Amino acid sequence: MFSILVINPKGGAGKTTIATNLAGYLAAKRQRVVIKDMDRQRSAARWLARRPRGFSEIRGALPDTDPKIVADYAPQWLITDAPAGVHGKALADLVRDADAILVPVSPSTFDFEATADFLQELASLKSVQNGKRPIAVIGSRVDQRTVAAAELDEFLAPLDIDVVTHIRDSQRYVHAARDGLSIFELPRSRAEDAWGDWPALFEWLQTTLPHKSK
Ligand SMILES: Nc1ncnc2c1ncn2[C@@H]1O[C@H](COP(=O)(O)OP(=O)(O)OP(=O)(O)O)[C@@H](O)[C@H]1O
Ligand SMILES: [Mg+2]
Repeated sequence: MFSILVINPKGGAGKTTIATNLAGYLAAKRQRVVIKDMDRQRSAARWLARRPRGFSEIRGALPDTDPKIVADYAPQWLITDAPAGVHGKALADLVRDADAILVPVSPSTFDFEATADFLQELASLKSVQNGKRPIAVIGSRVDQRTVAAAELDEFLAPLDIDVVTHIRDSQRYVHAARDGLSIFELPRSRAEDAWGDWPALFEWLQTTLPHKSK
């Protein structure tokens, strides 16, 4: 099983959007996927509850879900959607359970500053320093035409962390979220433009995780 933690203490960075869309993509590829919703807002759990019949199964877990129930399902992927504001011991605990860490960042100065602090905190953790928990930054809600998008690249350039992709700002995500779907489960004609932002992340996961047996 691969355990993916989606985290940024900054509220609204795009964590639930990345977690649910990654889950939907993997489930559509016939992978067994569990989303663990650590957020009291329960956005991911509610998304799952809105999932229409006939789409690939994704199981949900909450912080108090018996780990045996998850283990019995034998998921190939456990995607953890972290809440905003996680620091300190709670952060260290989540990171220790992860094989890879995805950090979405929205292109705004406030988000850059908060995220820079967070990346520093991550780098200070023993479980990250041993190199076994690769970190990828993902530009989130990016409009490539704006100054903020270029500033995002500038901000990320000096960090010794992979910036895997920019996820565009698109109503596709809003509509899919409303309907309990990922953008990969919308009709090609409605969503294909947004699909192209994702292969770089899938490839990063593939090259980063293969050494760990399933
Ligand atoms: N790529 C995108 N294009 C358009 N809207 C987006 C995109 N990504 C996220 N959003 C919207 O931005 C808002 C915040 O995104 P999301 O809920 O994924 O962030 P979050 O980091 O999980 O927030 P929180 O810290 O509250 O858990 C949501 O309304 C979501 O629909
Ligand atoms: Mg969220």
